[in-house]
Amino acid sequence: MSALVELSGLEKTYATRTGDVHALSAVDLDISKGEFVAIVGPSGCGKTTLLKILAGLEDHTAGTASIGGHPIRTGNGDVGMVFQKATLLPWQDIAANVLLPLSLRRRPTSQDREKAAALLRMTDLEGFARKRPHELSGGMQQRAAICRALVHKPSLLLMDEPFGALDAMTRDSLNVEVNRIWRETGTTAVLITHSISEAVFLAERIFVMSARPGRIVDEITVPFDRERSLDLLGDPEFAALTSRIRTHFEVTHA
Ligand SMILES: Nc1ncnc2c1ncn2[C@@H]1O[C@H](COP(=O)(O)OP(=O)(O)O)[C@@H](O)[C@H]1O
Ligand SMILES: [Mg+2]
Repeated sequence: MSALVELSGLEKTYATRTGDVHALSAVDLDISKGEFVAIVGPSGCGKTTLLKILAGLEDHTAGTASIGGHPIRTGNGDVGMVFQKATLLPWQDIAANVLLPLSLRRRPTSQDREKAAALLRMTDLEGFARKRPHELSGGMQQRAAICRALVHKPSLLLMDEPFGALDAMTRDSLNVEVNRIWRETGTTAVLITHSISEAVFLAERIFVMSARPGRIVDEITVPFDRERSLDLLGDPEFAALTSRIRTHFEVTHA
């Protein structure tokens, strides 16, 4: 199968007032259509930078980056993004928030509204379409943000620490939900997380990044079925994979 996303020899250096910051170094990475990939790495290693390059929000300094065989352009509209904070517009209801990526471009059609309603149904938010964001819990807001990221049927769903601000139980149930959304929509997903267990729970393949400048130091194929439940957290193979990843982040004291 040919890759949907291809990054080759990707470099990123930010020029700042106080000198250059080398954020990414020699990143090679392919993602197949429909695949779920997670990227883990220490804080400041360039994960968000990598996601911004995929989203066309940031240029790279060297190497190549393509989606669907075309170089990634600034302002690439063919991605959906989910951030740590839901960033919903407080004065708009949930339905209007979900429709935002479309309504920024054109007047939403009845088909668009159907699509938004279907996504809200899929995430159990059907009864909340007319509510404002502050009337929803943090987990529900984040589910609405996922609907918004998918409403224009992007070829790539990018998530940057999407559940980092939520409590552990909400996070677990959202992980189950994201697994279902990914299976039902067939979307290609890239998740950035510093939760190793979240990466193993959700991804089919995990890339481990080094400290800055971020390089890929390990690639792990996760052997579990596509459909996953929280029982997996107690599986010995799950524990073996998380500890393999954790060894990359162990601090050695002299
Ligand atoms: N716009 C920017 N200008 C200058 N430096 C930046 C910018 N964005 C990120 N950086 C730097 O690049 C490095 C990687 O940042 P980032 O990609 O946000 O890391 P992560 O998401 O892994 O925590 C950090 O040292 C950060 O300070
Ligand atoms: Mg980040």
